[in-house]
Amino acid sequence: MLSGKRIVLGVTGGIAAYKAVFLLREYQKAGAEVRVTMTPSATRFVGLETFASLSGHDVAVEIFPEEAGADEWTRHIYWGEWADLFVIAPCTGNTLAKIANGISDNMLTATVLAARCPLLICPTMDGEMYDSPSVEQNLKRVQDFGYHILEPESGFLASGIEGKGRLPEFDSILDKSSEIIGSIQGPLEGKKVIVTAGPTREHIDPVRFISNPSSGKMGVAMAKAAQRLGADVTLIHGPVSIPLPEEIHKISILSAADLFKAVQEYAEADMIIMAAAVSDFTPVEVHDHKVKKDQGESEIKLKSTTDILAWLGERKPKHQILIGFAMETEHLLENAHRKLKKKNADWIVANSLTEKASGFESDTNTVHLLNTSSDHTFSGTKNEVAEQVLNVIVRSV
Ligand code: CTP
Repeated sequence: MLSGKRIVLGVTGGIAAYKAVFLLREYQKAGAEVRVTMTPSATRFVGLETFASLSGHDVAVEIFPEEAGADEWTRHIYWGEWADLFVIAPCTGNTLAKIANGISDNMLTATVLAARCPLLICPTMDGEMYDSPSVEQNLKRVQDFGYHILEPESGFLASGIEGKGRLPEFDSILDKSSEIIGSIQGPLEGKKVIVTAGPTREHIDPVRFISNPSSGKMGVAMAKAAQRLGADVTLIHGPVSIPLPEEIHKISILSAADLFKAVQEYAEADMIIMAAAVSDFTPVEVHDHKVKKDQGESEIKLKSTTDILAWLGERKPKHQILIGFAMETEHLLENAHRKLKKKNADWIVANSLTEKASGFESDTNTVHLLNTSSDHTFSGTKNEVAEQVLNVIVRSV
């Protein structure tokens, strides 16, 4: 259940903070990706370098660190959107009180406010503290907010006194995490989403074809993002050399005509994302045998392929969201708006081939997501950009 899931682990300043190092490892062993946010006082128990090197990510502590880029000040927003589950273990009485009152004075508590995912709090403190009326009231309050609580276990506490307040066993924390993640319903749950990706090949003869350098990375990233949101995804892809996600249903095609045929089968889908770089032209004649050079052909006659996005736009059912891509080398927004209208798409994801670290084979991208009334810009890895694009689209429905 935790395999492939994303967990933000919040660590607060109690002695059990050292156990969070092992908890992180347990999540990783279960296949989850973990990022860590610590309160400043937690860094007095465990060095943040420990969590940084084990998680492979920077550890978020202060909202305004001394030497921060602008993107670090908004990390709580991004992490809050990125995570499938936010677990605070251990959670001190102090952080619990802040959460119960919406205080967001460090990165951990700010991420609590920003998080869109479920929150699991593991209160851990001395027995007397745990029994205090304010903790009792705060626990009730955060449960009313919809946050999950995993009660502490009884035993010997750091004070030497026996009582209730110990961080639960890792198995209990992992079981509870799985239970919560298993109950999440993504916004695209029960929806059929079709994503087309990669180039098409238009054969001239058995050994020669017209194509383009599309890697399929952006389309695959869109398919993965849709699946993360709960959709039933079918990925229709041209010839690509990147690894394709095993868990996604795939249909392999070669030519624009094959792609058109495959898409027609799914014309009623809830969402269609046309990320494929479809050839606009195909040879009029396809030779059965390799054309020999002494045949002296100097011209290849071409005809237009069907504009699949426009075809879909003409018959778009009411429930469907139709998303096109636009790859431009000039007048990006103007051309993208023109395509939005002409093809009757609901959204266009426009990328410029001239923008730095963008385009066909790159792992990163900068895109403009636009419809008739809004325009958003996203930059990052293709996976990050795909998630941001889909989050906006899903929220707009
Ligand atoms: N598209 C399509 N069928 C085609 C060509 C393109 O469905 N025969 C889709 C692409 O998948 C993309 C959108 O149309 O979602 C825009 O593709 P793009 O290549 O940017 O534009 P074109 O429509 O081909 O126009 P132009 O070549 O003039 O830029």
